[in-house]
Amino acid sequence: MRNEYIPRPAIIKSIKIETPDTKTYRVIFKDKIFARHFNYKPGQFIQVSILGIGECPISIASSPTQGRFLEFTVRAAGRLTRLIHQLNAGDRIYIRGPYGNPFPLNRAKNKDLYFIAGGIGLPPLRGVIVSALKKRANFGKIRILYGAKTPDELCFRDELDSWNRAPDTEVLLTVDKPDKNWKGNVGVVTTLWNKTNMNNSSGIAFVCGPPIMFKFVVDKLLASGFKDKNIYLTLERYMKCGIGKCGHCNIGEKFVCTDGPVFDYHSIKELPVKERVIF
Ligand SMILES: Cc1cc2nc3c(=O)[nH]c(=O)nc-3n(C[C@H](O)[C@H](O)[C@H](O)COP(=O)(O)OP(=O)(O)OC[C@H]3O[C@@H](n4cnc5c(N)ncnc54)[C@H](O)[C@@H]3O)c2cc1C
Ligand code: FES
Repeated sequence: MRNEYIPRPAIIKSIKIETPDTKTYRVIFKDKIFARHFNYKPGQFIQVSILGIGECPISIASSPTQGRFLEFTVRAAGRLTRLIHQLNAGDRIYIRGPYGNPFPLNRAKNKDLYFIAGGIGLPPLRGVIVSALKKRANFGKIRILYGAKTPDELCFRDELDSWNRAPDTEVLLTVDKPDKNWKGNVGVVTTLWNKTNMNNSSGIAFVCGPPIMFKFVVDKLLASGFKDKNIYLTLERYMKCGIGKCGHCNIGEKFVCTDGPVFDYHSIKELPVKERVIF
């Protein structure tokens, strides 16, 4: 029987610098049998570790449609993530998972699909964007609204253009503080509402970003006609086990690691206000 607590070795094949404090890692598992059984869906997360140092939850940033590798994006936030940033291609890193619920892309079939991300919130959505564009004909229009503090802090700069070129797909960008080369929108991500038609009573929205962004984005989506069951958010909590055993990640009766991290807004708006923290 597979032991969920055992981290598996993976080799870093490549590292891409996204922003001054964020890098994307492409890895493959050393154990071919484990690799064959590592089936994931975008929105799920993994526990990434350096042995003897610690482990932390990181969202999967790739789509299984891309191949039998795994990609994840790490912002250097503290001790472990700073050490991950010191690793090089060819180095070994440890992974367990995948854990949690994915974004329910099947629910969006034949519907308009909206991705709304802030800062490091784009990596958890990137895999589901890639999966959706791979089966472009399955969806109505696709809109990707993405904001960062500065132009330097936009992730996947090289992919944003190609997403924008897909049929009936629009990528709208904004930054809080422009630099001298920035010609796009300035302001928080909700200021992009004026740049495209966001009114949609049957659209599906996938949202990921800093907690402060959620409240404003959810309010805007509801005001634009979105149903609370069609708004999906991915939440972050401190985690240890990742599999519903330790209780570190609970919000009220829900465990973010097993009931989430992707939740529909309808199910989390019912949580007691003091437990919700972010809304
Ligand atoms: C489901 C899930 C998915 C995540 N996906 C990603 C991802 O794709 N990329 C990424 O860079 N990070 C992601 N994170 C956050 C990441 O786990 C933390 O940044 C990491 O644990 C920090 O570890 P550290 O030892 O380097 O920092 P620490 O020394 O533990 O902490 C450094 C700082 O980060 C804060 N921090 C630590 N853990 C969290 C957390 N869970 N939520 C918010 N703040 C935290 C601490 O309060 C402190 O200010 C995710 C977290 C969760 C729960
Ligand atoms: S992280 Fe242990 S119960 Fe969720």
